[in-house]
Amino acid sequence: MTSLDILIMAAGKGTRMKSRIPKVLQRLAGRPLLHHVLDQAAHLQARSAIVITGHGATEVEAATAGAASATSTRTGTFDLMFVRQEPQLGTGHAVQQTVPHLRDDGTVVVLSGDVPLTQADTLRALVAASEGGKLALLTVTLPDPTGYGRIVRNASDAVQGIVEHKDASDAQRAITEVYSGIMAVPAKLLRGWLARLTNNNAQGEYYLTDIVAMAVAEGVPVVAHRITDALQVAGVNSPLQLAELERAHQLRQARALMEQGVRLADPARFDLRDDARTGVRGELVCGQDVEIDVNCVFTGRVEMGEGVSIGANCCIANARIAAGAVIHPFTHIDGEKAGATVGEGALIGPFARLRPGAQLGREVHIGNFVEVKNSTLADGAKANHLAYLGDATVGERVNYGAGSITANYDGANKHRTVIEADVHIGSNCVLVAPVTIGVGGTVGGGSTITKSTAAGALSVARGKQVSIANWSRPAKQPKS
Ligand code: UD1
Ligand code: MG
Repeated sequence: MTSLDILIMAAGKGTRMKSRIPKVLQRLAGRPLLHHVLDQAAHLQARSAIVITGHGATEVEAATAGAASATSTRTGTFDLMFVRQEPQLGTGHAVQQTVPHLRDDGTVVVLSGDVPLTQADTLRALVAASEGGKLALLTVTLPDPTGYGRIVRNASDAVQGIVEHKDASDAQRAITEVYSGIMAVPAKLLRGWLARLTNNNAQGEYYLTDIVAMAVAEGVPVVAHRITDALQVAGVNSPLQLAELERAHQLRQARALMEQGVRLADPARFDLRDDARTGVRGELVCGQDVEIDVNCVFTGRVEMGEGVSIGANCCIANARIAAGAVIHPFTHIDGEKAGATVGEGALIGPFARLRPGAQLGREVHIGNFVEVKNSTLADGAKANHLAYLGDATVGERVNYGAGSITANYDGANKHRTVIEADVHIGSNCVLVAPVTIGVGGTVGGGSTITKSTAAGALSVARGKQVSIANWSRPAKQPKS
């Protein structure tokens, strides 16, 4: 098979996004548009990819170089190169900038940095159509083709050329088959045609699409690989289009999960994203009979064991949730880099918050408005209401009362709290770290504990109750 070299056009401004961020760096499913396109290059096992940059070039290049190496280690390596196009004089001019780097033995696939949802199978078919020295165009029929280049065919249906909307006659504007902006062509042919482009047209631009008529004139076969799924070639030009493609992409992901048996209450209300902070791919790894209610957002890699149930409106990032655990609605779990784990059969939420380094054992219960950070809770431990556990090691079957907190931070350093097995911490306690509550001990409600306690001890550290019998409240003075 011939080697593939991918050209990705990414120099355009994206005026209609009305954003300071270059268009190809706008995110779809947490990942810049351009990175979705680079993934396609990886899936095609391309030999190289050249990204043509212009507007925001420095930013685009910086944001892409690292990500591309991550991509290539995952799906096979390709050489990545950036070529600047300044000023931007049209798509033909953009591709002309790559000419010094084109290798004549290869096939070139032209992609756009703002068209994120093209499927690898479609591109493979397009490449196959170009084999044997042909120019292959990816085309699609649109009910409203306004703005697109039209595919002009002759009486015997052979492609004759592409005419841009602004240059088209009324009869040509009636054509609904349009050029997608994606083509595959032997590099050697492309090189020859690029040298002859002119900007003698309605927009005064160098049109890449003019090479089609050149091919026809030279007797080079032009084939149109026509698809029906317009989403695959849809570009992002505005916030609305970005949101539309996001929904389409999420629906695709939701369907793929449902095919594996995951039960989503509503595939239209499901989101799975890359973690923009770490670049970790959005990925759900699910056992059998996982149920996910509406409006949940998953970020990065999330594993869920058999029978896990996720309530409505949960946000879950970088976490492992073991079999049979139930996450009640409105729970926020974010393992960031350290990860967060929930043990088998644990009950979490509603309104719970698990932060990085939360490691919960089997049958742990974390109730409403409880925050856990960098803490290990052994099997059967419970913190059911309004509590904070930070930098704590909590033993088996510990019961941690409502309103209790670990004071883990002295203003300069963090310290650990150790609560040994079978301890009961009453309500509204402050455990001032570093401190250890010995096994089986009890801490009375309202205590501020600053010294470690012995096994089995009851510790109470609060003002002694004083009751004054028959005390009368002050009465209001009569007005004089
Ligand atoms: C282009 C095609 C049109 C097709 C449409 C599909 C041409 C002349 N026309 O039109 O037939 O139907 O795409 O979406 O090719 N870009 C550069 N440098 C430039 C100009 C553009 O890098 O100087 C990039 C843009 O950032 C974008 C892509 O090329 O990623 C397409 O450019 P755009 O201006 O959207 O082309 P259209 O006029 O829409
Ligand atoms: Mg366009």
